[in-house]
Amino acid sequence: MSQFASSADIVVRPLREADLDLADQVLRLAFGTFLGAPDPARFMGDVAYVRPRWRSDPGAAFAAEIGGVLVGSNFAANWGSVGYFGPLTVRPDLWDRGIASRLMAPVLERFAAWGTRQAGLFTFPHSPKHLSLYQKFGFWPRSLTPIMSRSVRAAGGTAGWSRFSDVPRAEQAAMLVQCRELTTAVYEGLDLTREIAAVEAHRLGESVLVWDGGRLVALAVCHYGAGTEGGSGACYVKFGAARPGPRAGEHFGQLLDACEALAARERLPRLVAGVSTARHEAYRQMLGRGFRADRLGVAMHRGNDAGYHRAGVFAVDDWR
Ligand SMILES: CC(C)(COP(=O)(O)OP(=O)(O)OC[C@H]1O[C@@H](n2cnc3c(N)ncnc32)[C@H](O)[C@@H]1OP(=O)(O)O)[C@@H](O)C(=O)NCCC(=O)NCCS
Repeated sequence: MSQFASSADIVVRPLREADLDLADQVLRLAFGTFLGAPDPARFMGDVAYVRPRWRSDPGAAFAAEIGGVLVGSNFAANWGSVGYFGPLTVRPDLWDRGIASRLMAPVLERFAAWGTRQAGLFTFPHSPKHLSLYQKFGFWPRSLTPIMSRSVRAAGGTAGWSRFSDVPRAEQAAMLVQCRELTTAVYEGLDLTREIAAVEAHRLGESVLVWDGGRLVALAVCHYGAGTEGGSGACYVKFGAARPGPRAGEHFGQLLDACEALAARERLPRLVAGVSTARHEAYRQMLGRGFRADRLGVAMHRGNDAGYHRAGVFAVDDWR
């Protein structure tokens, strides 16, 4: 099957539930091989992307197959005016035959249908192949995105913050409106409510809400537990942001404290968050709080548009 005749043999289609096991295997093998892991098939332990992404939005998950066998997948994420894609993975024995390029078409089509204004991705800054692949589709490398972590101190109560899962069901829709109002102040149209709802519906972790005098001033979407993007060993802040304004830095600090308190409460040893170095003050605040980079990615932006990756924005995310 690795001797397929031409790109006409590659079929790109929606990812189906029956594909999930194989898509997960291909993803681990692809990253494990690229990064030189000793046992690529088991790479990333109980961290998972395929199932949580598919369950969160089955209409934004795509497969490539050859001869009826899945050989790669790609996922798009809808954050309102912002969209990103990945993980994009291809079975290693079939690299450099145009399969990933074919898996770009459906995510670009999703962005068009969603009216995505800022589109981007996270990739490996040391790989000429990766940069060149995405540049072909109009995405350009901008800031570094260190994936940072620190050990969790046994600290923190719940003063000043609350958990989305504690919001009574009848009030959740109104709470999502407040969340959207905060993120759209960070970047017009930025909307994390699908992520918050997916975490709640599929028990992927918790969303953290930070309050100041009854006003929502910061929020974070955290994944943790086996089979999530955090895995069983970490609280992974997939997105976090403080409301812009003179006290944004202070509220951002409170948000990081709240995420750490959540992690301590869930007995998770590490707190993980990616941050764009373009968000200079946020990056420096994380360094000052003892976060260290475990590895580096680079954000590639369609049309080289900075979007909300700029100084003065107190937000963490990494578009993985
Ligand atoms: C990255 C990955 C998805 C690419 O898949 P692929 O099917 O091999 O990619 P394609 O063949 O469609 O495209 C690769 C492009 O890079 C080009 N390329 C390869 N090596 C290159 C190099 N050293 N410098 C510049 N371009 C290079 C190829 O020529 C091709 O471009 P072309 O179509 O213009 O010829 C795959 O290698 C993979 O699964 N890697 C591990 C997981 C991963 O890193 N995923 C991406 C995370 S962002």
